[in-house]
Amino acid sequence: MIQSDVDLQPFNTMTIAARAKYFCAATSHDEMREALAFARKQQLPILPLGGGSNIVLTGDFPGLALHIGLLGHEFEPLDDGVRLRASAGENWHQLVMHSVALGYGGLENLALIPGNIGAAPIQNIGAYGVELKDTFEQLTAMEIATGNLVTFTAEACQFGYRDSLFKGDAKDRFLICEVVLKLPARWQPQVSYPALQQYFAEHQQGEQDLTPEQVAGAVIAIRNSKLPNPVEIPNAGSFFKNPVVGASQYAELKQKHPDLVAFAAGNDWKLAAGWLIDQAGWRGFARDGVGVHDRQALVLVNPGHRCGSQVVDLAQDIARDIQQKFGVVLEPEPRFYP
Ligand code: FAD
Ligand code: EPU
Repeated sequence: MIQSDVDLQPFNTMTIAARAKYFCAATSHDEMREALAFARKQQLPILPLGGGSNIVLTGDFPGLALHIGLLGHEFEPLDDGVRLRASAGENWHQLVMHSVALGYGGLENLALIPGNIGAAPIQNIGAYGVELKDTFEQLTAMEIATGNLVTFTAEACQFGYRDSLFKGDAKDRFLICEVVLKLPARWQPQVSYPALQQYFAEHQQGEQDLTPEQVAGAVIAIRNSKLPNPVEIPNAGSFFKNPVVGASQYAELKQKHPDLVAFAAGNDWKLAAGWLIDQAGWRGFARDGVGVHDRQALVLVNPGHRCGSQVVDLAQDIARDIQQKFGVVLEPEPRFYP
């Protein structure tokens, strides 16, 4: 069941060739526990793997890469909505499309996000004005140290923008096994995100007649128009988070750059990092097999299947340039291993 010296290139959408000292594809709780016991005995670090669409392998992984392939999902009708219970290895986009095909709304803005549902709570996936936390009810996770199952409520998960407990106090301590979402009985389309507004205006579709399936269709069309399909052009989605700055820094930047794209986030402002990188002239930049996507500057691409250090070098050059030009610090969004 446990293989040694395994190439992780097929397991990350950046297609970075790096090797794992050990690799295991687990499809049950028992297999996960056996793999954890093996790693514990040898004091190996664990790299939990879903679809590999939000990781950057900066070198070989000196521990156990554990692919979590638990499968199964069910929709349970309730008086006030529908509960969706799904095992960690279920593909996220397929779950979204299945739920909209059944007429259940709530997930449609998150269509076409790559990866599996098990990873969705790690960074509280979000797109087009909606985040996982908006429908999240609870999750069950296996504690790496003991193999015990623990349940976390939405509150316990401490969701934030691209953030959760699993990137903070519980980092590297749990394997998510099952996620439970609750979809509302009375659905309202969430189409205030500028790109969605523009799409429906262009297609002359009024908000009141929309179905979840139509919103999903719009999101898919918008995403396909600017985001590279990782199967064709290796990438890990947005490489940086959109930086959040205080009101005074925002006012100063806006005065210098009247076209600055930013969204209010409470008293603070979330800047469009893609706009900053684009303005700094990086969109479409290519260097030795790695580059910046030509239709979305926040996405770094790896068409040459280069190693992680080349991707990271480019990311560092961009971040340095943005800090010099705008005084803004960019933080990577994907997780780097080892
Ligand atoms: P992986 O890359 O396999 O893992 C991501 C992290 O979660 C790693 O640290 C991994 O160790 C950990 N992990 C994975 N599974 C588990 C588990 N079961 N238990 C514990 N830890 C686990 N993200 C967005 O939020 N919004 C977007 O719009 C979006 N668009 C994207 C577009 C493209 C083209 C790409 C390539 C990526 C995009 N992403 C987006 C990022 C990515 O799709 C999400 O972060 C997704 O949730 C990652 O899922 P995964 O299964 O591929 O996770
Ligand atoms: N922009 C540019 N040039 C670019 C890219 C963007 O000027 O090259 C401008 C756009 O014109 C737009 C604004 O920046 O006005 C925002 O762009 P977009 O709508 O594409 O969204 P984003 O802020 O770049 C975020 C998420 C995406 C998510 C989209 C849609 C982060 C880090 N990224 O991108 O998530 O799909 O919004 O909600 O928050 C991911 O996390 O991997 C990801 C793809």
